[in-house]
This record gives sequence, C-alpha cells and structure tokens, in this order.
Amino acid sequence: MAIQWFPGHMHLTRKAIEERIKDIDVVIELLDARLPGSSANPLLAELTGHKPTLKVLNKQDLADPGRTPLWLDWYNAKLETHAIALDASDAAPARKLIDGCRKLAPTRQGLSRPMRVLICGIPNVGKSTLINTLSAKRQAKTGDEAGVTKQEQRIVLADDFYLWDTPGMLWPRIIVDQSGDRLAATGAVGRNAYDEEVVALDLLEYLKGQYAAQLDARYKLGLSVDDIAAMHDDELLERIARKRGAVMSGGKLNMQKAAEIVLTDLRGGVLGRISLETPAEFEGWLAEAAVKEEARALKKAEWDKRKVRKDASRARRREQE
Ligand code: G4P
Repeated sequence: MAIQWFPGHMHLTRKAIEERIKDIDVVIELLDARLPGSSANPLLAELTGHKPTLKVLNKQDLADPGRTPLWLDWYNAKLETHAIALDASDAAPARKLIDGCRKLAPTRQGLSRPMRVLICGIPNVGKSTLINTLSAKRQAKTGDEAGVTKQEQRIVLADDFYLWDTPGMLWPRIIVDQSGDRLAATGAVGRNAYDEEVVALDLLEYLKGQYAAQLDARYKLGLSVDDIAAMHDDELLERIARKRGAVMSGGKLNMQKAAEIVLTDLRGGVLGRISLETPAEFEGWLAEAAVKEEARALKKAEWDKRKVRKDASRARRREQE
C-alpha cells in the first residue's frame, strides 16, 4: 500500500533548517533503529547542503540486535557519515553524540571553534525524549537571534559543543511502498493516513517469515515456525483475534481490534526485538522504486513529445486556414 503523508509543519521545519544550516558543522539525523532506511529523509542531504551527518539509530532497545550492526556498517560506509546506536536507557547520550560528531569534524574544538550541531528526525523517533534527557543535565536556551524562530532550542552539551534543535519535525519521504507500511506500523505516520488492518496484515506478512517464533510466543498460536510462515496473513490475523478475544457479539471476529493489538504490541516492544528491514532488503526496494520511477519518467517524456507534435500540427493547420 502506498502511503503519502506530510505533517503540516514540514514547511516550518524546512525553513528552520535553511535558516540555521549555514552555521552548522554536523547534522544529527535521528532514525528509528527498527527502520534505519525508511525512517531517513532522503531530502535531508539536499536541505543541509551535504553537511557531514551523524546517523543515530535510536530506540535500539526495540530493534533486532543482529541487524543493527549491519545498518551501522551500511551507514558507516557512506561518505561524510558516521553512525551510532542509542536508546532512552542510555545514561550518557551526550558523550556518544559528542564523540560521534567529533569523528566527522575533528577540528571543531575549543571555545574559539565550538562544534555547532543541528538535530532532526521524523515524528516518533524519540527526539523529544532525547532532548529532554540532554536538557535536564545541561542548560537549554531558547534562540533569540534574528531570523531564529522562537521555538528553536540551543543545548550546550559541553563548553565547546552546541546542539540546535529545530522546531517541527522532519517528514518521512516515502519513496518505496514498503516504507510507508512499516512507518505506519511503528507509529511514525499520522493515524488518519492509513488503515490499521491493512498495515497490520502487511506487518504480519513480514513477521511470519522473519519472526515467526516471536509471534508464536506472544499469541500462543501453538504452531511451528514453518506452519506460521505458510499461513495466509488474513488467517494469521484471524487466529490472533481468536486467541486475544477480539470477538464481537454474535461471534464475528473483530479484525480492527486484532490489528490494533498487533500494532500496539510491536510499538511497545512486546513482540520482542524486531527490525523491519535489512540493508539488503532496503536496497532492493530502492532499486525497484528506481525502475518504476524511470518507467514513469519515460512515459511522461513520451507524452510530452506527443503533446509538442500535436500542438505544432494544430498551429500549422491554423496557419493554413
Ligand atoms: P518524537 O519527539 O521524535 O516524536 O518522539 P518522542 O520522544 O515523543 O518518543 C515517541 C515515543 O517513543 C514515546 O512513547 C517515547 O517514550 C518512546 N521512546 C523514545 N525513545 C525511546 C527509546 O530509546 N526506546 C524506546 N523503547 N522507546 C522510546 P509514547 O508511548 O508515545 O509515550 P510515553 O509512553 O513516553 O508517554
């Protein structure tokens, strides 16, 4: 299912980033460690003028510990990029952020050349939680300089390290259909932009192949991993509905309720540590999307050419009349 969703404050965010970016040395992009590809905004590099970027795979406590290192390697192989994993239980996130940024801009040290960092992330990635933790320990200041929106916050992480938090949120730019469904499943997309049952079925389609044992453990399905993997998604959701008592009067299964149960369980980490994409899968989706985009562009170019020919022949006819 293709989800197209843009929070209303995206223009505010874009403007805030554009205003601040000229004085920034490193950009921190907070990502959801369960979706390190889909939770990134591919426009960020453009928006920030390709500044060095620290990718923080946040909520690592919810992600598959076998997959997070693959994603760290994937990002670390990119130019001007460094990646770390983090979660809200970390007692010293500031130290990790400082060390990560220093790797990208080692010369920004000391009071005369302080490190200036901008932090951004899509909704629900844990930015407010992290900012609150950081501000609780250090002094948070509201920006009062010309051109700086009132809500901009500057947090002093060290005497020579300033972190700027832009107002608003980065928006996910959904370029592959799979990303839309997975972002909706983890709660990054506004609730009115998707159908919970459709998203839960898509989620189960993925989980039954990759995390069948966790599904069995949570919902006491009493089935082997192979049997779960072979089940149709609808059948699986029905079974979960029955097991969890999502039944309406008259005995009809309440599939909406069952879908909500599955999504709530995923979001709360009750299903166990799960990641919804690997770098290889994500690259495959990107390649598919690129092929589709190329076909769309070719079709459009063909259509434009035909229109030009039609207009020219119409103009010729008018001249002859
Ligand atoms: P945002 O500003 O990026 O939109 O995200 P926010 O900090 O509001 O966090 C969204 C949800 O994710 C919150 O849960 C928050 O507690 C949770 N969260 C943030 N960081 C982490 C983390 O590292 N690990 C885990 N497991 N959860 C994290 P909520 O249910 O929406 O609210 P609440 O329960 O905190 O009230």
